Amino acid sequence: MPNFRNPRAGRPHLRTVSITGVGSYVPAKVLSNADLESLVETTDEWITTRTGIRERRLAAPGEATSHMATEAARRALASAGIRAEEVDLIIVATITPDMQFPSTACLVQRNLGAVRAAAFDIEAACSGFVYALDIASHFVASHTYNTVLVIGAEKMSSVVDWNDRNTCVLFGDGAGAAVLQNRPNAHGLLTTCLGSDGGKASLLELPGGGSACPATADTVSRRLHFLRMDGKETFKNAVNAMVAAGQEALGRCGVTIADVKCIIPHQANQRILSAVAERLGAREDQVFVNVDRYGNTSAASVAIALDEAVAGGRIGRGDLVLLVVFGAGLTWGAALIEW
Ligand code: UT7
Repeated sequence: MPNFRNPRAGRPHLRTVSITGVGSYVPAKVLSNADLESLVETTDEWITTRTGIRERRLAAPGEATSHMATEAARRALASAGIRAEEVDLIIVATITPDMQFPSTACLVQRNLGAVRAAAFDIEAACSGFVYALDIASHFVASHTYNTVLVIGAEKMSSVVDWNDRNTCVLFGDGAGAAVLQNRPNAHGLLTTCLGSDGGKASLLELPGGGSACPATADTVSRRLHFLRMDGKETFKNAVNAMVAAGQEALGRCGVTIADVKCIIPHQANQRILSAVAERLGAREDQVFVNVDRYGNTSAASVAIALDEAVAGGRIGRGDLVLLVVFGAGLTWGAALIEW
């Protein structure tokens, strides 16, 4: 087991915070690269070589973000061995909420029957799950709540422009969830590093439908309700930010990348995953990859990957796990966890 420094130690009024259960859900419908060839001018070969994505999942008609979030949450609660009534707080990270309000978290609270829980959404795009983990950890560490459910859930198929080959091939739908609690004699979440740069907000945005540009027939006809991305600039910023955040998390805990059992980067593009791994000095077998099967599921991405890594035996008790994320905002972050 690696030796590490716990930045939260030496603050006896704070409790340690562990992830005591994980779960995920992806819709059954698979959209392959071959399927996309009939929608836009693209090829399986282009998508595979430029992104590593082979297929992605699509929510069923009528299946909203809250449905996927609820199913992932049920699985996380089962894996933690707790009942919905024991949950004190639900945080959903999403950029594709069911509606403007109420929050998706409140709809999940209703679906689960989590009668004691407070609930709210946060929005940090693809970085949302790590942002939510950080927020949740403070509630548990400070003894405010004992059990917090953190969910990353997205129906990206509802906001991609299915006429835009630059973006529609990249995204998919799904949800992942984690239960945060104090586990005596465990270190758990060692540190989180978050960052943002709103000066680059326009690199990746969905401009229509908010207070700046309320929905009208004109905004719909100008396709302002779909996401837009400057892919090349986003790519460069993603690699730089994820590497810097990962290095900061490792440095704070006095460990090196070699001490980390499993690195879970935001699954945006295989070329981004490889560049981040290389610049962090990681071996390929340390990096968890499922972008080939799900594409970019935004806030759900590392949450689904974490669940699959645990289920697949890639992470065991005592292992160090590094999450690194990046998304619109711009936002980025890292979390180092002793599992
Ligand atoms: O989750 C938030 C973070 N998101 C990301 O990190 C995504 C970051 N960006 C990327 O992953 C990559 O930039 C993309 C995969 C989006 C694009 O890859 P690229 O290597 O940067 O390609 P490009 O934008 O330079 O496009 C190259 C060419 C263009 O044609 P021209 O202008 O050179 O003639 C595009 O029109 O590829 C064309 N192209 C496509 N061709 C076939 C773009 N999309 C497609 C497509 N099929 N789907």
